[in-house]
Amino acid sequence: MAISKKVKSTLYGSSWVRRMFEAGDELKRVYGEKNVYDFSLGNPDLEPPPSLQKALRELAEHPIPGMHRYMANNGYPEARQAIADYIKEESGIPFTENHIVMTAGAAGGLNVVFKSILDKGEEVIVPAPYFMEFKFYIDNNGARIRPVETCKDFSLNLDEIENAIGEKTKAVLINSPNNPTGVIYSGESLERLGQLLKRKSQQLGRTIYLVSDEAYRRIVYDGIKLPICFHYYPHTIRVTSHSKDLSLAGERIGYIAVNPFCEDASELMAALIFSTRVLGFVNAPALMQRLVAPLQRNSVHIEAYAEKRDLFYNALISFGYDIVKPQGAFYLFPKTPIEDDLEFVQELQAKRILTVPGRGFGKPGYFRIAYAVERRIIEAALPGFKEVAGRYKREGD
Ligand SMILES: Cc1ncc(COP(=O)(O)O)c(C=O)c1O
Repeated sequence: MAISKKVKSTLYGSSWVRRMFEAGDELKRVYGEKNVYDFSLGNPDLEPPPSLQKALRELAEHPIPGMHRYMANNGYPEARQAIADYIKEESGIPFTENHIVMTAGAAGGLNVVFKSILDKGEEVIVPAPYFMEFKFYIDNNGARIRPVETCKDFSLNLDEIENAIGEKTKAVLINSPNNPTGVIYSGESLERLGQLLKRKSQQLGRTIYLVSDEAYRRIVYDGIKLPICFHYYPHTIRVTSHSKDLSLAGERIGYIAVNPFCEDASELMAALIFSTRVLGFVNAPALMQRLVAPLQRNSVHIEAYAEKRDLFYNALISFGYDIVKPQGAFYLFPKTPIEDDLEFVQELQAKRILTVPGRGFGKPGYFRIAYAVERRIIEAALPGFKEVAGRYKREGD
């Protein structure tokens, strides 16, 4: 094989999510699709809002001349303006279209950000557990992920972050609501993080960026308001998408927003635009930019996810699973009743239940359940979860 040695070395074992998803395909072939309960992939099951379909029809029937052509690498000014207006209203910070870059989803956005800020040998601190693709996005630039422990409830552990910051630190990457835990970092913890980064940046004599992955920013439950990352630290970059909140994962649309108070904002914007071009995205999908611009305040029916969370969480707790109750996203991240998370996930697999071992998120001893699936699949899988947990029930539990 003549493929890159580096890619070859990471091909196998690069994604437990994909591995479980593929194992599921095999089970589905043997037992039939209906008889396999697949919680491996965070693929939104809800359809986009009807207003999106309507706008799509309208555009197809009344095409705008030039709507399929190249554009500026940062995207259509109207789309960037609509997003800037929304963030300005939400944050009270004077965002303009010049602080926004349209991206091919959050994944595209993160790659653009990392190419723009990272040099070889530098480090990005990431609280664990974390979305495993982060590791590869950082590695794409010759830099290294530096995972740090979170607290028992998966909240930010500021001491761990402080201890990890050093000469090589270029950024801290947070993801809230979090994949895989569903935890939302509190405003208070972000305030402390902001203070820490200010102090450390001063000590180092250069900026440490805070990159805030908000791919699940509108999938939030129990009336909780997601703290606005820009309020806590000037050198903050938000990366998000409409993959989850508008169920457009396959359409690859998102954006990067740079805090106007970031000291080198215009140079950083120029770098982001350049990176968008040379990474080969050139620009975010044109049609989607037009469609999502007016939908900045819309989302899929979040209550439907909240109902599934409640159903799943309450049932699993009653079976004896130990879980931090998620406040957002569409994942549960229970402790495995035995130490070996892979073995436990395989036991569930024998019941035709597909989940992902915690080691796939840098946190062995746990497993992830993605519940953006039809309610009937959750209901059908519950007896299997109960039976497997029952094997490990101790006296008095
Ligand atoms: C934490 C996190 N960040 C980024 C992404 C990528 O999202 P997108 O589809 O918008 O590229 C995902 C996708 O699951 C995710 O879970």
